[in-house]
Amino acid sequence: MLTKRPRGTNDFLPEDTAKWQYIEKLLREICRQFGYAELRTPIFEETALFLRGVGDTTDIVQKEMYTFEDTGGRSLTLRPENTASAVRAYVENKLFAGQQPVRLFYMGPMFRYERPQAGRFRQFHQFGVECFGPASPAADAEVIALAWEFYRRLGLKNLELNLNSVGCPNCRPAYRQALQDFLRPHLLELCPTCQERFEKNPLRILDCKNPQCQQFLQGAPTTLDALCDECHEHFEAVQSYLHAAAIPYRLNTKLVRGLDYYTNTAFEILLSDIGAQSAVCGGGRYNGLVEELGGKATPGVGFALGMERVFSALTAQKLALPEQPGLDVFVAVLDKQAQTMAFQLACNLRQSGLAAGYDTMERSLKAQFKYADSQRAAYTLLVGGEELTRDSVVLRDMQSSEQTEQSINEIVAILKEKLAK
Ligand code: HAM
Repeated sequence: MLTKRPRGTNDFLPEDTAKWQYIEKLLREICRQFGYAELRTPIFEETALFLRGVGDTTDIVQKEMYTFEDTGGRSLTLRPENTASAVRAYVENKLFAGQQPVRLFYMGPMFRYERPQAGRFRQFHQFGVECFGPASPAADAEVIALAWEFYRRLGLKNLELNLNSVGCPNCRPAYRQALQDFLRPHLLELCPTCQERFEKNPLRILDCKNPQCQQFLQGAPTTLDALCDECHEHFEAVQSYLHAAAIPYRLNTKLVRGLDYYTNTAFEILLSDIGAQSAVCGGGRYNGLVEELGGKATPGVGFALGMERVFSALTAQKLALPEQPGLDVFVAVLDKQAQTMAFQLACNLRQSGLAAGYDTMERSLKAQFKYADSQRAAYTLLVGGEELTRDSVVLRDMQSSEQTEQSINEIVAILKEKLAK
C-alpha cells in the first residue's frame, strides 16, 4: 500500500529547500540587524497553554488544535502558533530578570486543523518575532519595520499594511457594549457564527466575511472611536513612527485578528496577488498575555509571517531567488583500478573545503560527464589511465573544455587557486 502525506501538509524537495534556506538566511540577517535572537521551543506544549494563551473563544482553540493524550495521560497540543510558547519560555526561563527588552525570533512548523486550500495548510511554517518589556509605541513600529524590511529586500510589491488599535481592558468593555447595542436589533439575522460570537467575542463580528453581516455593520462604532486617551496617544505615536520610517499603511477599523491576546496595536500585511489567503503577516501588541500565563505583568509586541505564503508571493510576482552554487569539482573515474584513488581524492578535496562530487553509480565516463554538468561542476578531474602511472590527473575546465595534466599531489592547491579567481 502506498502511503500518502497527510492532507494539508507538504513535502519540500531539494529545489524548494534551497529557496527556504535563502529566505531563512535573509531573515536571520535582518534579525541580527534589529537585535533579535533565536528562540526554539518544543513543537508540542501542554494544551492548557493554548487554551489560556490563544483564548478559548477563538477558532484555533475551538476547532483547529491537534490535541492528543500521551502515554502518561497528559493532554498535549501541537503548537498552532508560537506567541504563547514564547511567553511561557520568557516566564519559565526567567528572561524577565535579565536586560530588557528581550527580543526573540523563531521559525518552524505550526499546526492547525483547517480546511486546506491555496495558502492554507494544516502544517505550515511561521517566522515570527516577539519583543518583551517595552510598552512604548516605538516597539510596535520596530516589529512592523522588521517585517516590512524583509518584504522590501525580497523585492515584493503591492503589499498593504493594515493597522488598527483594539484598545485595552479599560476602554474595550465600553466599546464591546456599544457594538453589541448597535448590532442587537439584527442579532437573529447575523450568520450563525456571529450570533455565537455576539456574547463571547463580539469584536470578531467586525471581520466576518459574510456580506449580510457586513451590511449590518455599516455605520457601526469603531474601536478607534472608543479608545481611551492613553490608547489613542499610543496609536497616534505608532503612526508617527511609521511615517518617520516611510512605511505606508491603511487604517482598517475592521481588523481585529483571530487571537484573543491583542491589546492596542493590531496589524496585518496583505498581498492580493496570492488569492483569498492574502494575509502574509499578522501581529500586534499583547500587554496582558505574560500575566495571563502566570508571569509578572509585562508588555509585549510581535508578529508572525507565513513562509508558504512568501513563496506563493514570489511565484505570483515572478521574483527569482539567486541560484545556489554548483559543485566546485567532480572527480571522474576512468577505470575500475582508479576508483579508490579517486574516492580518496574526493575526500581530500572536501576536507580542504571544496564541494567535490564523485560517481557512486559506477557509470561510463560519458555518463559521468553528463552528471557533472547536471551538478553544474566548474571543473572535472579525470582519474586513471596512464596519467595515474605518472602520479597525475587530467583537469578539465567545464566551461572552456580545456584539459591539462596536473600533478596529483598539487591538484588541491591548483584547484583552490583557480576557484579563488
Ligand atoms: P496568525 O495571524 O494566526 O498570527 O498567523 C500569522 C501568519 O501565519 C498569517 O498571516 C499567515 O501568513 C500564516 N498562517 C496562519 N495560518 C496559516 C495556515 N493554516 N496555512 C498557512 N499559513 C498560515 C499568529 O500566529 C500570531 N502568533 C502572530 C503574533 C506574534 N502576534 C504577536 N506575536
